[in-house]
Amino acid sequence: MWSSNVAIQGELSIAGITASDLAQEFATPAFIMDEVDFRARATAWDRALQSAFGQNAGTVYYAAKAFICTEVARWISDVGIGIDVCSGGELAVALAGGIDPGKIEFHGNNKSVDEIQRAVSIGVGTIVIDSLIEIERIGAAATKSGKVQRVLLRLTPGIQAHTHESIATAHEDVKFGFSIASGAAWKAIEEVRKHASIDLRGFHAHIGSQILDTDSFEISAERLIAFLAKYRDTFDSQLAELDLGGGYGIHYLPGDEELIPSVVMAALAITVSTNCARYNLEIPKISIEPGRAIVGPSMFTLYEVGTVKDVTLENGDNRRYISIDGGMSENIRPALYAAEYTAILANRTSIAPLLSSRLVGKHCETGDILIRDIALASDIAPGDLLATPATGAYGRSMASNYNHVPRPPVIAVNNGKARVIVRRESEADLLGLDI
Ligand code: LLP
Repeated sequence: MWSSNVAIQGELSIAGITASDLAQEFATPAFIMDEVDFRARATAWDRALQSAFGQNAGTVYYAAKAFICTEVARWISDVGIGIDVCSGGELAVALAGGIDPGKIEFHGNNKSVDEIQRAVSIGVGTIVIDSLIEIERIGAAATKSGKVQRVLLRLTPGIQAHTHESIATAHEDVKFGFSIASGAAWKAIEEVRKHASIDLRGFHAHIGSQILDTDSFEISAERLIAFLAKYRDTFDSQLAELDLGGGYGIHYLPGDEELIPSVVMAALAITVSTNCARYNLEIPKISIEPGRAIVGPSMFTLYEVGTVKDVTLENGDNRRYISIDGGMSENIRPALYAAEYTAILANRTSIAPLLSSRLVGKHCETGDILIRDIALASDIAPGDLLATPATGAYGRSMASNYNHVPRPPVIAVNNGKARVIVRRESEADLLGLDI
């Protein structure tokens, strides 16, 4: 839940810097990022892939959509893994951070002609094809640049992953990929093979996000391998790569589970080798795309309490509303996916009795609820600091300017030093867009 350098003894601190010092220097709300923890998680996934698959290990592509900025792209480049981008903007950040284009994988169900041309001409390692129209676009862009573009086909293996419906992606009725069951995937193969400027390397599937059981990943791998066998049987040649996507779940609440890199990768390695043996296939290069599992636990959000209000409910009970200085603009996940978080008092300890409280933001909306029901010290007052762990994934990256609230900064902490890696948005930034 908390990153490895956070200590909660008395006041919360990270790598020796207290929450109060961070709030004083950088103000609140702020995303606080544990650089060492981020690097360690990226390395752990890379090692787990390497040790489970050995010479058949492909690449760990960090899913930039979870969170990216130029400095984090530099860390990715430093650690030596690849990156999955799904828009021209994410591509631009990856390049600004010095990531080798050959280690970039380009995703998206509606890449524009421009984005495709840019990706092809800078030499993006892999484009993951999502529609028939895109096959034509990539073929044309590669021909124009005089290149042969490596691609994977994104497939939907027909899996109902156990997660919120908005973040499940591999059942039949989704916008992503080509369905294996309906024959769409086979049609895409036939189309791709018509293009001399496209090099079909293999298949990709991403079954969803925040998945906590390994079974769904194993079933997906099984189905992709059966499809590899069909391809080999038909064309008498074997495709060399499989990308099994991301989606590995993390823990948000005390007592939650998370997927351990070495455990998931070992399970997948068994599935892959058993199924390849079954069809007499060579083991392809296996790649993965974790986003949340790398960046999620490495950040927490630091807030200041602004108001505390007691509301009498119709049944006579009391509900305490504690308002923090952010809300649904920098954490939309509770409102969008009913995601649950916890929070702690970060600037001091309290021996006051706990009181069931509702933690809310400052936005003009009833649904601006960060935590519906949490036991917090009854003496929490304006000026206190609260911290919510595990906000690194899809927090800052999905932040908005709702109510013209400027987006918070990201502060990286490493070895007792804190520095801004994404500065706080200002009102001038917001006004600067208006004509
Ligand atoms: N690969 C592909 C093709 C993806 O679409 C995604 C996430 C990932 C990898 C990374 O998944 P991760 O390892 O981070 O779970 N905004 C939602 C999550 C949307 C995920 C979209 N795709 C949330 O806040 O839960």
